[in-house]
Amino acid sequence: EKDGHDWFMRKEIFEQPRAVADSLLGRRNASGLLELDEMRLDDSELRDIDRIIIIAAGTSYYAGMVAKYAIEHWTRVSVEVELASEFRYRDPILTRSTLVVAISQSGETADTLQAIRHARTQRSKVLSICNTNGSTIPRESDGVIYTYAGPEIGVASTKGYVTQLVACYLLALYLAQVKGTFFGDEIHHVMDQLDEIPQHIESVLAEADQIYKIAREHVDATSVLFLGRHAGYPVALEGALKLKELAYIHAEGFAAGEIKHGPIALIEPGLPVFCIVPPRGRDHLHDKMLSGIQEVRTRGARTICLAELDDETIAPYADTLIGLPKVPVLLQPLVAVIPLQLFACELATVMGHDVDQPRNLAKSVTVE
Ligand code: M6R
Repeated sequence: EKDGHDWFMRKEIFEQPRAVADSLLGRRNASGLLELDEMRLDDSELRDIDRIIIIAAGTSYYAGMVAKYAIEHWTRVSVEVELASEFRYRDPILTRSTLVVAISQSGETADTLQAIRHARTQRSKVLSICNTNGSTIPRESDGVIYTYAGPEIGVASTKGYVTQLVACYLLALYLAQVKGTFFGDEIHHVMDQLDEIPQHIESVLAEADQIYKIAREHVDATSVLFLGRHAGYPVALEGALKLKELAYIHAEGFAAGEIKHGPIALIEPGLPVFCIVPPRGRDHLHDKMLSGIQEVRTRGARTICLAELDDETIAPYADTLIGLPKVPVLLQPLVAVIPLQLFACELATVMGHDVDQPRNLAKSVTVE
């Protein structure tokens, strides 16, 4: 049942090309327009939406953070992302023109469920992104975008996460289509780029042995940091969460631009720091990241840089370099997270931990 893998988690990591492809399947109609069948919200209702609040927990929350970059960039609708466990307790301002988006792999997370119940009492529309057909959260939502990861058994979310990202991109593109902020051919262009993601993930998975080797070099690590910018920032948080929950190692993710506001004091010789390098582009993201890497390296950090395969600017500052396929910055989380999943899975394995059932954790948290 594990297809020859030692853990469900590892099997699920390797299923990601298929999971992404399935989640993209059949979303364009004959005339090339996006169609989301289970959406159940009218285009006229969506056109009136002027604010989006995304609520989720854990890894799903990090998927929501990525969604914010895509939705705001493509639709110009303002997006807030909030932890479900915090949302209800601050008396949130919700109106009929607020769309609440709940992201939950299981569809049963108690905090997320209570949050959408609260939103509906305030007459906001609720859309859920969920991997579990017929679970409570989609049943109590006005509309759903299902992900097609298939059952996720490992407690650590992997294929659940990447398919949530796909659903978030689909939602962003659909809103752009409805609101007319994107022309048809631009939507096509991004959909074509998304269709290439499964093969890109395959190419990262083909280098798994390199990541495993790096993981085995870190069995004695007591703390690992992850730095990212823009859409790479939530990926840094996700990489840190994977390491905490599986290897029980202290790990933290930071926005690279924030380190000089405090966290840089943590840097000491030999500290492993993963750096997620944005693709080179017209913005300054890449160069800013490069200077962040230099700052931590000067102070002795051991840098493990994830960067585009042909990005030769990074090599002088990377103690270890992991190549990523060339994709636009907004889609980079889909490929950048893969080495981080492999790293955490392998490190936990060599440390002798139960990867599928980490201590103290449950697959779905049904208590508030
Ligand atoms: O089923 P959900 O997506 O609502 O679950 C949310 C979190 O409990 C979940 O993502 C958790 O953080 C995972 N263990 C992360 O790997």
